[in-house]
Amino acid sequence: MCGIIGCAASRDIVPDLLEGLRRLEYRGYDSAGIAVLNGGRIERRRVKGKIRDLEDHLRSSSVAGPCGIGHTRWATHGRPSEDNAHPHTDCTGTLALVHNGIIENYWALKERLRAEGHVFRTETDTEVIVHLLENHYNGSLEEAVRRTVAELEGSFAVACVSHREPDRIVAARNGPPVVIGHGSGESFVSSDITALLQHTRRVSYLADREIAVLTSSGVRCTTFAGEPVEKPVEVLTWEAEMIEKKGFAHFMAKEIFEQPDVVRDSLKSRLSLESGRVFLGDAGIDPKIFRDSKRVVLVACGTSYHAGLVGKYLLETLGRVPVDVEYASELRARDFTMDRGTLVLGISQSGETADTLAALRAVRDQARAVVAVTNSVNSTMAREADGVLNTHSGPEIGVAATKTFVGQMAALSLFALAFAQAKKTIGPEAVRPLIEELQRVPHKMETVLARAADIERVARNFLSCEHYLFLGRWINFPIALEGALKLKEISYTHAEGYAGGEMKHGPIALIDEGMTTLALVPRDRVYEKMLGNISEVQARGGRVLAVAFENDAKARNVAEEVFPIPEVHQLFSPFLTVLPLQLFAYYAAAAKGLDVDQPRNLAKSVTVE
Ligand code: F6R
Repeated sequence: MCGIIGCAASRDIVPDLLEGLRRLEYRGYDSAGIAVLNGGRIERRRVKGKIRDLEDHLRSSSVAGPCGIGHTRWATHGRPSEDNAHPHTDCTGTLALVHNGIIENYWALKERLRAEGHVFRTETDTEVIVHLLENHYNGSLEEAVRRTVAELEGSFAVACVSHREPDRIVAARNGPPVVIGHGSGESFVSSDITALLQHTRRVSYLADREIAVLTSSGVRCTTFAGEPVEKPVEVLTWEAEMIEKKGFAHFMAKEIFEQPDVVRDSLKSRLSLESGRVFLGDAGIDPKIFRDSKRVVLVACGTSYHAGLVGKYLLETLGRVPVDVEYASELRARDFTMDRGTLVLGISQSGETADTLAALRAVRDQARAVVAVTNSVNSTMAREADGVLNTHSGPEIGVAATKTFVGQMAALSLFALAFAQAKKTIGPEAVRPLIEELQRVPHKMETVLARAADIERVARNFLSCEHYLFLGRWINFPIALEGALKLKEISYTHAEGYAGGEMKHGPIALIDEGMTTLALVPRDRVYEKMLGNISEVQARGGRVLAVAFENDAKARNVAEEVFPIPEVHQLFSPFLTVLPLQLFAYYAAAAKGLDVDQPRNLAKSVTVE
């Protein structure tokens, strides 16, 4: 949460800071600011609000300079306000700093610094860092940072400048991600590569407990202890245009419609129809690990957790293995035990979610191996794992996850097939039809997306409905959870996801004409039971919408509206059933005029616990 950016060049970098902040805005968007070194002074501009508010402010109070830092905030300590917006400065106004993370010992430091005479002007934890810098500054910003980080407890990605060294930015990392961009005659630092793609595709990643000094002529890295570190430079394959809206009103809409291609990209070169085999060589997982694994534990948060549940049903059915799916935040709080034959999968689109990282670290010594299922193959999670299963979804800018969820389901489908193949729970003859069906999934997804206008019409007709129950069973139970989450997070409508069989154990008491039930009823092993659920809702005066196969007359008879999907193998129906739910949530939020891509109180990457 929070995005940091810095540029050191020999031209005015303010437009670059603003462009970078726009691309990082998904990480937090309650306040923003920049600090620029200009003629021996630090010029600072901050606002409560979004990057466009900062741009408006800069139109009336412009600033320019060749070196500077910027920040977009998701409040942790201190409410969103101009005073609490970063960059923060020291008592003398000669040092400025931006921070992503949480300083756990900030209160003790603040009391000590106050007693020493420092004057605090914000409610943030961050401000202690810049006052510590002030204490330690003795002509070298790099040394001041080294001494300062030695006093900090908690997680931090920081970038700072001093007016006495106007050509440089010093950055440090302990936890949240820091990416360095190597331009020609210019250097960049950012929380995320998406903010760098406009300038360079040559990047390196700061590791924990490392410091980088950036100038227009290059970047030098050391450890906190001062040892030099040679950073390999990687050349990114993502193109800058992948993070444009391409004519869609919102990133979320663009990302929903990209989903068939996400599945195509994920399957590419990993399936062979001829041999009936699945290849996950790119993930670096030794098939022996599959053979040795007696249990699988999937660890994730939010939407990634829902993908994990789909993965569980796939692995149970295909791999015949016991599978547990755990919320990362809960797993790390528990006295969790597993034997050495357990294979652990961390699922995270960002690969930086603090709870997921902590949970994986907590169990890694007990696990047979840890595999990262992620869209960020250079993320912390990927670097710490034994294998990395890339979800091939491309950059996702909308805060609500859509295409990365589908990318996770595709990766987990392949994983389940590869696992079953290695365990010999299914042979090539049984795998072949599943491969064929998976390859048909993207086209079937396109058929569903082509009917988006109908879903928009229904979403508009139901705008006055304030309560929703999403019902699904078996492999569509996680999709019911995901549909409810999407509606909640972007349209601020109360929605609950339930397993159909649980309805009569409580939620049925809520059913009346004010509650709409959205039922997932593809013709599968639980189809008749789902029809039973619908009848129970109708009998109590509830309204029903259903996602069902195109030719399903029974579903049409019982539901007020049906979102039709093509027939599909029961193991892969989630790829189709999730689409109407994403579109329903999207059109409901867009019709209400809400900020679809940046819903209130959320941030894309939850790097705090
Ligand atoms: C919801 C959403 C979140 C994330 C969760 C985990 O639309 O995006 O629930 O799924 O914060 O994030 P990652 O996958 O980055 O670990």
